[in-house]
Amino acid sequence: MKAQNFIPNTYKKTISNGSFIWSSPSNIALVKYWGKKENQIPANPSISFTLDNCKTTTTLHFEKLDRATANYSFEVFLEGKVKADFKPKIETFFKRIEKYLPFLKDYHFIIETSNSFPHSSGIASSASGMSALSLCLMSIEKILNPDMSDQFFNKKASFLARLGSGSASRSIEGELIVWGKHKAIIDSSDIFGIKYPFDVHPNFSNYRDTILLVDKGEKQVSSTVGHNLMHGHAFAEQRFKQAHDNLDMLIGIFKSGDLKAFIKVIESEALTLHAMMMSSLPYFILMKPNTLQIINEIWTFRQATGLHVGFTLDAGANVHVLYPESESEIIDAFIKDSLAQYCQNNHFISDQVGLGAKQL
Ligand code: PMV
Repeated sequence: MKAQNFIPNTYKKTISNGSFIWSSPSNIALVKYWGKKENQIPANPSISFTLDNCKTTTTLHFEKLDRATANYSFEVFLEGKVKADFKPKIETFFKRIEKYLPFLKDYHFIIETSNSFPHSSGIASSASGMSALSLCLMSIEKILNPDMSDQFFNKKASFLARLGSGSASRSIEGELIVWGKHKAIIDSSDIFGIKYPFDVHPNFSNYRDTILLVDKGEKQVSSTVGHNLMHGHAFAEQRFKQAHDNLDMLIGIFKSGDLKAFIKVIESEALTLHAMMMSSLPYFILMKPNTLQIINEIWTFRQATGLHVGFTLDAGANVHVLYPESESEIIDAFIKDSLAQYCQNNHFISDQVGLGAKQL
């Protein structure tokens, strides 16, 4: 499927006003997307667990204007308060998607959004936020073109979300989503995410992700800046190849349920992501001393108990602790007793793999 397939023919129906509400989850990448080409095309394929509790709920009210506006007409509210600083990002998003949703200038929109996780938790809301907004816009398009299939709806929602924030393309469905072309996954695509199509061992059912909030501040490096650092990076080509190989390995691991091998791949991915940042120009260290303390505690605990607890990181200091449901009682206690002390205000968020976005 090509981007052109998402440009609609003339719509059959019209609608003057209404509102839609979608709640959309965050996701955590196991093989990381880091580096992109023009038009939000990823430099390598990635795969993520869709989360369940960490989500954004967005209500989109829309009212047809008498005449199409020259610019976009919209207001944004976060947790009930006007959020003017979200406007430029949404305007850029609208510009990128207008070709695919030609009704955008015909309406005035009120976007009301709220997150289930604390605003300043260091958890990026761009994946859940951009996917929730894309789904609301798709609900409008579904009214204008009622013949649209559910499959097309989800694909196009992911396609649009990607144009807002790459990782948002992986927040429409669950439980495992692949985004980016990979040779072993025939339907995989650079322009939208798809559900992982192969067998997944029950070891991965309800897999846990406890997010340790080491640093709740704003990200030191925005992902836009981060992705750009991969242009001309000395190790870029090797890294992109490694992501393909790691995804290949995960296909076997998901089938066999080999948790030791799983941990090896995901921890290596996390540390490679940070190694890329440490070896780019300019260079950054996004881990904090407590990030390293936590990693060492996890390794010591794993060695001592033989339990299958591992970690991944996104582009910041927080640690995602990943483990199977069957071992969660002991590992939850370990987190509370030994790891919470390294979090700001002992704050962590318990989450697990989820099924994707929901219309409310
Ligand atoms: O979607 P973006 O542009 O914010 O990039 C996300 C980058 C990582 O979170 C570090 C990795 C990933 O695949 O989600």
